[in-house]
Amino acid sequence: LNENRQTHFKLQQICELLKENIDHYDWVGFYFKNGDKDELKLGPYAGEPTDHTIIPFGKGICGQVAVSNQNFVVPDVQAQDNYIACSITVKAEIVVPLFVNGENIGQIDIDSNTPDPFTAEDERFLEFVNQQVAGILTKTV
Ligand code: SME
Repeated sequence: LNENRQTHFKLQQICELLKENIDHYDWVGFYFKNGDKDELKLGPYAGEPTDHTIIPFGKGICGQVAVSNQNFVVPDVQAQDNYIACSITVKAEIVVPLFVNGENIGQIDIDSNTPDPFTAEDERFLEFVNQQVAGILTKTV
């Protein structure tokens, strides 16, 4: 995968664009599988810094998506027992896996301070965003 500075910058820009332009997106970031370890590592993001820069597979919403390969929409984070809190203002979360050549290599993670804001439209939109990101990651420019 292409992990150069330009790629990092493009993904950073995507995070900022999404956070600034979509009202119910309050923290937007990418996590990626960390080498051959069974853990995720935080990549580019927009929003408050988080302590959770490494997340073991299976832990929290992100860690669960790393193993399920499925979108995870959380209307109310308080109702989840396998959840890693980053900020007390967060009410809801959506995580959509990122596939490159059919392999789950990471995910986009979005936190919202609005309760139950995510719809099927967000899922389709974020799947599209991730397809574009997969293109960026596999292009050698
Ligand atoms: N809430 C996530 C952890 C990542 S922070 O939202 C940035 C989780 O439960 O996996």
